[in-house]
Amino acid sequence: MDASSDHILAPSLLAADHSALAEGARAVEQQGLSWLHIDIMDGHFVPNLTFGPGVVAALRPKSTLFFDVHLMLDNPGAFVEAFAHAGANLISIHIEPEYDHAATLERIRELGCRNGIVLNPDTPAEAVFPLLKSVDLVLAMTVQPGFGGQSFREDVLPKLTALAEFRKQNGLRYHLEVDGGVTVETGRRCREHGADTFVAGTAFFKAPDRRAFADALLDRKTR
Ligand code: DX5
Ligand code: ZN
Repeated sequence: MDASSDHILAPSLLAADHSALAEGARAVEQQGLSWLHIDIMDGHFVPNLTFGPGVVAALRPKSTLFFDVHLMLDNPGAFVEAFAHAGANLISIHIEPEYDHAATLERIRELGCRNGIVLNPDTPAEAVFPLLKSVDLVLAMTVQPGFGGQSFREDVLPKLTALAEFRKQNGLRYHLEVDGGVTVETGRRCREHGADTFVAGTAFFKAPDRRAFADALLDRKTR
């Protein structure tokens, strides 16, 4: 558990040493964290390639972390089954490409996983409103997806407020996650606007003191 905080820090494996991914996952567990964010890119929806289901399956027996799998794919419906079988705990899919979003979200739950819907920085909150009664997580990207190490987009903050308001007004309980350029400072701004789940790649894996980073981001005291 993330001691003394109901907020979640999900370090992104994208920023770990790709020749030693299991060690990266272990480093996350060692900081008392329970989620691991895994970025899957197809070279079409985003201009980069990362991990396939085989990598997730290979990591599964080596980690007890909750695998938060972020699919950046043009046709996620074709891959949700493979990632569920590989050991994903949550699978999130983007709203921007054309496919049956509602059916794919439902399929993810049928496969025994939690589901999430993702919005790029320029996609308005309203685009996902019709789906929000059927999701476990909403991910608002705070950079254009594709690469780690980019600068946080301040202009996304009002969208967080809108998604947090919608949650409250409709009595919903989805996680509100942010991803991209998250540091202690930008994470605090997101929290002030309603976010509760924070993906951090560079800021976690390159931190001189990962424990101190996690404690500061989650506002927790573990030492
Ligand atoms: C970007 C990915 C992010 C990325 C974040 O396309 O979705 O999860 O790893 O990396 P940082 O925290 O370095 O911005
Ligand atoms: Zn991501």
